[in-house]
Amino acid sequence: MRTIVRVTERVQETPSTVTLRFPYPPSAAPGQFVMVWIPGDDEIPMSLSYTQGVSKGITVKVMGETSRHVQAIEPGASLGIRGPYGNHFDVRARRVLVVGGGSGAAVLAPAAAEARTFGAELVVALGAIRADELLFRERFRSLGARVRVATDDGSEGHAGYVTAVAEDELARHRFDAVWTCGPEVMMRKVLAAAEAHGVPLFGSMERHMKCALGMCDACAFGSYHVCSDGPVFPADRLKATADFGRFHRDPSGRRVPF
Ligand SMILES: Cc1cc2nc3c(=O)[nH]c(=O)nc-3n(C[C@H](O)[C@H](O)[C@H](O)COP(=O)(O)OP(=O)(O)OC[C@H]3O[C@@H](n4cnc5c(N)ncnc54)[C@H](O)[C@@H]3O)c2cc1C
Ligand code: FES
Repeated sequence: MRTIVRVTERVQETPSTVTLRFPYPPSAAPGQFVMVWIPGDDEIPMSLSYTQGVSKGITVKVMGETSRHVQAIEPGASLGIRGPYGNHFDVRARRVLVVGGGSGAAVLAPAAAEARTFGAELVVALGAIRADELLFRERFRSLGARVRVATDDGSEGHAGYVTAVAEDELARHRFDAVWTCGPEVMMRKVLAAAEAHGVPLFGSMERHMKCALGMCDACAFGSYHVCSDGPVFPADRLKATADFGRFHRDPSGRRVPF
């Protein structure tokens, strides 16, 4: 589906992230994304941060021009949407460790919400540069999750990377799955820890996108396309891809190190 929606709600989640809610009837699963544009502007991929019911949502962090324009949208304004695209998290896992870095929590929160409807037990390790950038902490708590936080500047929770919290949880408790999204360097460490404890991991990946249909190669990730083979990849596929955590591609398709 491809349509223009009217934004109904704008929520400033943290100083750098804003959620926009809008009516969009197509069914969507947690992990899927939509292509978003302001009429007359460029188009960018955004995970659905709210997937249930008609009122969907995206949670936007400013990276460049287009995300700045999308984030500035006020209720009543128009937004172009096509999708949803891509695969999704398997939300039937029983005991899940959710590891989110920065705006990565945007894709993990709806997965946690849906997993709760199947009775999952959730532990969330949430990391951010400082306390006021911890995204969706209260939303995770309201789902009944046990939430542990880490901040780079030590303003709350563990002082340092969220990977230390994830490693601690994996060492002390049994999990059926680890779901992660955030900087790839973080995801690489979480993958290594999950593997050391024999827990299956699924990570949500980001790459530049154009078609979102598996046709243009803009989102190439090793032998995969993030748009159609992902964005959610199991550990074995992440590990088999030499670029994971090391290289991404610039808008022209050139491989550049992180
Ligand atoms: C499947 C998917 C889901 C996403 N979900 C979200 C989300 O929920 N919330 C959110 O805030 N952002 C999300 N993103 C990232 C978002 O699409 C980019 O931030 C956006 O495209 C930036 O566009 P821009 O024109 O504002 O910035 P640009 O000017 O294009 O880029 C600014 C900087 O960000 C880098 N960059 C831009 N796009 C990407 C990308 N896709 N991957 C890696 N680096 C990139 C550029 O290389 C540059 O350094 C998602 C991306 C993908 C592929
Ligand atoms: S965006 Fe075109 S192949 Fe993925």
